[in-house]
Amino acid sequence: MKKVLILPGDNIGPEIVTEAVKVLHRVDNKFNLGIELDYAHLGGAGLDAQGSPCPQETLDKARQSDAILLGAVGGPQWDHVERHLRPEQGLLTIRSELDLFGNLRPAIMYPQLAHASSLKPEFVSGLDILIVRELVGGIYFGEPRGIRTLEDGQREGYNTYKYSESEIRRIGKVAFEAAMVRNKRLCSVDKSNVLEATVLWREIISDMASDYPEVELSHMYVDNAAMQLVKQPKQFDVLVTGNMFGDILSDTAAMLTGSIGMLPSASLEKNGRGMYEPCHGSAPDIAGQGVANPLATILSLAMMLRYSLSAPDAANAIEQAVSAVLDQGLRTADILTQGTKQVGTVEMGDAVVAAL
Ligand code: IPM
Ligand code: MG
Repeated sequence: MKKVLILPGDNIGPEIVTEAVKVLHRVDNKFNLGIELDYAHLGGAGLDAQGSPCPQETLDKARQSDAILLGAVGGPQWDHVERHLRPEQGLLTIRSELDLFGNLRPAIMYPQLAHASSLKPEFVSGLDILIVRELVGGIYFGEPRGIRTLEDGQREGYNTYKYSESEIRRIGKVAFEAAMVRNKRLCSVDKSNVLEATVLWREIISDMASDYPEVELSHMYVDNAAMQLVKQPKQFDVLVTGNMFGDILSDTAAMLTGSIGMLPSASLEKNGRGMYEPCHGSAPDIAGQGVANPLATILSLAMMLRYSLSAPDAANAIEQAVSAVLDQGLRTADILTQGTKQVGTVEMGDAVVAAL
């Protein structure tokens, strides 16, 4: 018996999660996985239903489950609420409370989508990058932080960027191990020409390299990494970086593949339990229209089966089914190109189930 907690979230969240759950039921039957589902609220949904963007009940259920599938949180409906009640705060709280420090964000170019990218096909065809982002530290969580009033009466906003040795080592280990099962190239991204926190980051990551002699380690400043990602993205295999740089670079990498609507992610704690969510947001502009792309969530489910539920066959089957559906020429609006057929969220989910 494996317990999976479903957090539909806000705006398109429930729409895309519904499709992923259909796929989960299908592989559960096909591969006899013994999945037991439960549901809880996160984000604006949590605030509206239970008065908190990360209700205690959600945290309790999360701690009792083997894996969590999240849709997306946030939206203009909650723009007016106090900062600590914002939907994003719910996401940050659950990441931090469960210590989901290891965020894996693959950017893979499906050959069928080469023309959906804004880069020329020769730069992105065959692209397969993994961004390893530290998720529960750095400037996102550093104290002190806040907005204070200075002696001259004006206000000042401030945050703290810090990483301890152990925080750097544990994310470094995730990245080196990921590189070992891929092409054995790791690029660590920092801003060590300016920020002390990343001087230490570079020192620790360099020190770890001797434990992984087969991995070719390089270092890059984040501004250069941003440039190289759009200039020559195929030079990268695995990238490892802190929370804020990883947030930014993973959106850039996502777009290289044609649509952020295709990219899954995994956020893991030290024992491999994890939360799985698409890299994209809650897309309030298209919510309720039935046009959102459910594939990133369905592919996140595949990552869940592989990393947290020890069901690699089911994971492979889902990824093959997604590829088969793309081969059939079915596309949601975000990946539509000439000569392909536009389908909605539900039709896309049904097509994946049928391909399974
Ligand atoms: C992400 C998102 C979140 C982040 C937001 C919604 C808090 O952009 O998962 O990349 O910044 O981590
Ligand atoms: Mg982001």
